[in-house]
Amino acid sequence: MDQQAAKVILDGNTYELPVVVGSEGERGIDISKLRTLTNYVTFDHGFGNTSNCLSAITYLDGEAGILRYRGYPIEQLAQYSSFIETAYLLVYGQLPTSYQLSDFSDLFTQHSMIHEDMKHLFNGYPSTAHPMAILASMVCSLSAYYPGIDLMNPTQAQFDQIAVQLMSKIRTIAAFAYKKSIGEPFVYPEENLEYVPNFLNMMFSSPIKPYKIYDEVITALKVLMILHADHEQNCSTSTVRLVGSARANLFASISAGICALWGPLHGGANEAVIDMLEAIHRDGGDATKYVNMAKDKANTFRLMGVGHRVYKSYDPRAKIIKKCAHDLLNKLGVNDPLLEIAVQLEEQVLKDPYFTERNLYPNVDFYSGIIYKAIGIPKDMFTVMFAIGRLPGWIAHWKEMIEFPGGPKIGRPRQIYVGSNQRDYIQINKR
Ligand code: ACO
Repeated sequence: MDQQAAKVILDGNTYELPVVVGSEGERGIDISKLRTLTNYVTFDHGFGNTSNCLSAITYLDGEAGILRYRGYPIEQLAQYSSFIETAYLLVYGQLPTSYQLSDFSDLFTQHSMIHEDMKHLFNGYPSTAHPMAILASMVCSLSAYYPGIDLMNPTQAQFDQIAVQLMSKIRTIAAFAYKKSIGEPFVYPEENLEYVPNFLNMMFSSPIKPYKIYDEVITALKVLMILHADHEQNCSTSTVRLVGSARANLFASISAGICALWGPLHGGANEAVIDMLEAIHRDGGDATKYVNMAKDKANTFRLMGVGHRVYKSYDPRAKIIKKCAHDLLNKLGVNDPLLEIAVQLEEQVLKDPYFTERNLYPNVDFYSGIIYKAIGIPKDMFTVMFAIGRLPGWIAHWKEMIEFPGGPKIGRPRQIYVGSNQRDYIQINKR
C-alpha cells in the first residue's frame, strides 16, 4: 500500500498522519492515532466522510456512477450471471468454476427447509405483523438451531455451512412470513426448482392453485437481486459489521442489518416509493405538484427513491432497473399508471435545478417497487425482497471483518459531548 503523510496543525503543533491508498486510487487519511497524538477526535455526522474498514468486496464511484463487485461491473453481472453465482463471487472473492457452482447450488437445495419447530414461531405473530419484523427475528432465531457449532468463532467449514444455509433459508422464511400474513398454508421448497423460481413457488402457489412461473418474472427478479447484492458500507452493512465486531454471531449480526434496512431512508424506501406514487395517483396524478412539495423547504415531504448519500450522478442500478421495469410490464401486458407517474417524476427531477444542483437522481428503489408490484409481491414484502438480495453482501462483509488480520476490532465511535456540565443532584421534594 502506497503511503504518504498528511500534515495536521493543531494548537501550533504539526502532526503527520499516514495516507492510505486504495486499489482504485481512493485516498484516506488514517486518523486512528489522532486522539492519542493530539487529544482531538474527528467529527463526522452520519459518517459521510469516514472509512471504517479496508474492504476488497465492492468498488463504488458515486460521481462516475460506477459499481463493481470484486472488480466485475454490475451491468455484466446483471446480464450474464445468476444470483447464486454472484453470491459466491461476493462471499469468496472469485467467480466459481462450474464444479464449485454446481456444488454451491446443491447446498442451497439441500438446506432450503427450515427446522419444523421454527414453523411454530410464525404462529406467535399477529396476521398484521410486518414481514420485516418476522424476518429479523426469525434470522436471529436461527442461531438457536446450531448447537454443535461455535457460532462466535466458526471454522472455515462451519462458516461455509451456516452462510449457505442462511442464504437458502431466508427465502423460505420470507415466503412463510407472507403465507402467514395471508392465512394460507406454508408451501415447502422444491428440489427441482432453482433459487428464484423456488421462492416464487413458495410465495404464490397453494394446494388448490399451482403458480405459473414466467421466465420474464424470473429474469426480472434475478436482476433485482443481483443489483441489490452489495453496496459497500451502507447503513445496514455497517450495522452488520458493527454488531459483528463485538463478535456477535452471523445470524445476530445479519438480523441487526435487516432491522437497519427496514428504515424508509434506506431499504424501506422501495415501499415508500409506491406509497408516494399511489398517493400522487389518488390525488389526480399531478407529478409537478409533488415535485414542488419536495422542493419546498417549509414542507418535510421528500421524493422517495430520489437522492443518495454516495451517488452524485445517476445510480447505475436504477438505469438497469428502469429498463427492466419497462420490459417486464410490456411482456406481462400490465398497464400500470404508477409507472407513468414515475416516468413523469423522473423527467422533472432530471431537469429541475433544485435536484440537479444537489446531485439528486433516482436511486435503486425508484423503479424496483414497480417490478415487485407487477410480479404480485405485496408492498410490505418489498424490503424483504431487498434483504434477500442484500444477504450475500452482508455475509461477505461479516466474513471479511472476522478474517481481518489480527481479528475484528470492536466498533466504538467517539462523540463530542454537548450536554450539561457537572451539577449537583437535588432531591425531588426540594426541586
Ligand atoms: N427530495 C427532496 N429533497 C431532497 C431529497 C429528496 N428525496 N433528498 C435530499 N434532498 C435535499 C435535502 O433537503 C438537502 O437539501 P439542502 O441542501 O437544501 O438542505 C440536500 O438534498 C441534501 O440532502 P441530505 O438529506 O443532506 O442528503 P443525505 O446524503 O444525508 O441523504 C438520502 C440521502 C437519505 C437518501 C436522501 O436523499 C433521501 O431522504 N432520499 C429519499 C429516501 C430514499 O430514497 N432512500 C433510499 C436511498 S437508497 C438505499 O438506501 C437503498
